[in-house]
Amino acid sequence: MNWFIAFLKSSLGRKLIMSLTGLFLIMFLIVHLSGNFQLLLDDGGEKFNLYTKFMTSNPLIKTISYLLYFFILLHTIQGLLIWRHNRAARKNRYAVPGTKTSTFAARNMAYLGMVIFIFLVIHMWQFWFQMKIGGTNMITYEGHEPVKDLYEIVAYAFSQWWYVVFYVVCMIFLGYHLAHGFQSAFQTLGINHKKYTPWIKGIGMIYSILVPLGFAAIPVIFYLSR
Ligand code: HEM
Repeated sequence: MNWFIAFLKSSLGRKLIMSLTGLFLIMFLIVHLSGNFQLLLDDGGEKFNLYTKFMTSNPLIKTISYLLYFFILLHTIQGLLIWRHNRAARKNRYAVPGTKTSTFAARNMAYLGMVIFIFLVIHMWQFWFQMKIGGTNMITYEGHEPVKDLYEIVAYAFSQWWYVVFYVVCMIFLGYHLAHGFQSAFQTLGINHKKYTPWIKGIGMIYSILVPLGFAAIPVIFYLSR
């Protein structure tokens, strides 16, 4: 067991944790975005509210959610530790300075990650906390038990222009973070292949444009259509 803890604390172990938790979060974003698209249906939030009820009461999904919170914290803490270590190394001049070929995203992963973490705290407070603890109104749909009207909370948030702007700006940061993170996760896992690596990079680029764009589109469409 000691060797395992020592491995997790080593720089390779830390990078591996970043890569695996990052890939899990990448998958989460696709599920989350697909669910959120139901907000755009013209049904007054019925499908979305029934969906969130299912997602927050199904025992398997609840367990995956706890894993998700743990992975978000692990990814953030490990990222900060790697960033602090690299900064100290640069000060001691034994690290190779950033080359000109490294991208803006690659050079600023930690800062981009910090913005996303702050976004997440505000986001969770606004939606998740209101749903779990806050006084969300209940709504009843035909043939169903009363459910929390989370749609109302989302609609209220996205009726404020500054909240919409905040979301759109944060999604730009998310896009840059993903653009480097996606391909870097595969590289850490040792997947470096003449034929497959360009594909991974291409898919990563498409993912990191489309997913944040999808998330940013929801508040904008909400704001403009109400
Ligand atoms: C249009 C953009 C978004 C909307 C409308 C939205 C909406 C929501 C809502 C209503 C919840 C609480 C209900 C639920 O758990 O499904 C939630 C939870 C959550 N959101 Fe978002 N979200 C958006 C973007 C994002 C982004 C970009 C991220 C990550 C970078 C994110 C991360 C999370 C996390 C981690 C949770 C907790 C999930 C859980 O408890 O299982 N969301 N979101």
